[in-house]
Amino acid sequence: MTDTFSAMVIDTVDGKPRGAIRDLTKSELPDHDVLVEIAYSTLNYKDGLAISGKGKIARRMPMVGGVDLSGTVIESRSADWKPGDKVIVNGWGLSETEWGGYSRYQRLKPEWLIRLPEAFSLKQAMAIGTAGYTAALCVDALEKWGTIKPGQGEVLVTGAAGGVGSVAVALLAARGYVVTASTGRPETHDYLAALGATNFIDRATLQEKGGPLQKERWTGGVDSVGSTTLANALSQTVRGGAIAACGLAGGADLPGTVLPHILRSVTLIGVDSVMAPMEQRLSAWSRLARDLDTAKLDSMTTVEPMSKLPELADAILAGQIRGRVVIDVKG
Ligand SMILES: NC(=O)c1ccc[n+]([C@@H]2O[C@H](COP(=O)([O-])OP(=O)(O)OC[C@H]3O[C@@H](n4cnc5c(N)ncnc54)[C@H](OP(=O)(O)O)[C@@H]3O)[C@@H](O)[C@H]2O)c1
Repeated sequence: MTDTFSAMVIDTVDGKPRGAIRDLTKSELPDHDVLVEIAYSTLNYKDGLAISGKGKIARRMPMVGGVDLSGTVIESRSADWKPGDKVIVNGWGLSETEWGGYSRYQRLKPEWLIRLPEAFSLKQAMAIGTAGYTAALCVDALEKWGTIKPGQGEVLVTGAAGGVGSVAVALLAARGYVVTASTGRPETHDYLAALGATNFIDRATLQEKGGPLQKERWTGGVDSVGSTTLANALSQTVRGGAIAACGLAGGADLPGTVLPHILRSVTLIGVDSVMAPMEQRLSAWSRLARDLDTAKLDSMTTVEPMSKLPELADAILAGQIRGRVVIDVKG
């Protein structure tokens, strides 16, 4: 029996980072305390940047890609974890500074692991992945801020048909918020309505530069697009409202003014999933276990083999992926 297994390894090719499937052995894995047999990983926007080399994500080479993983502990030098435990890891620098989930096995630090919630299978946990867990962090942040109220006012979700957006729509709708989905793909309206969106706007309208204080519409919002879209969302937010911003699918700039903040007390809440403290992670996963309908989750999920990652990376950067893609690391 061979002890080699496949992994998606990012390395420097012609001076640029590039991902390719390569054989590894367990002896090459980092010397962290918990060895996990990985069942699934996922495709996130950041994974697309890392594999295609269009973003400088990996900060040392060679790097095993994949910001997420779910699997089963098979060896542990930590008292907190034992063989047979089902676990999830999101972020913590996986695919940036630490080897990630596009591999049959990985060695991980015990403090990165979360126990798989009973509500989900290992596959469903990766259907959620970093995108879904980030959507939950955003909804947590908005509810903590306290201005959104079920049934009152509209909550905006931008990039709605993408990974963060799809889960945000489903989570907000489950809590009784009136969800307006901003999407550039009208063909996804039925899909988004099934997840719980009630109103739709064409994303192009949020991409046109608008005034600094526009008609007040959103009590809150989850933004994964950034740039002019986020500036307009802030300019259209009601007095005291808040937008949770986590993404830059439309650009990393923020071409707005301070006026919504200083004249309407609008708040921009920044959300980072990668280094979020454990308490916030557990809260987000509890929300997902409580509010995310697994039938809706399954409807937004496709499963693809690891060998298809190069083409999937290009597709997610082109905004062509609907919902969430689970990566089967055996394929
Ligand atoms: N802060 C964090 O910790 C964190 C965690 C996860 C993700 N993110 C970021 O969040 C963003 C979304 O991630 P994701 O995994 O959901 O990606 P995704 O599945 O590709 O979704 C992004 C969506 O944004 C919209 N979009 C794409 N290109 C656009 C453009 N040029 N202008 C306006 N809208 C555009 C599309 O939605 P429509 O077709 O519906 O318009 C697309 O489906 C990324 O920037 C990612 O890096 C951040």
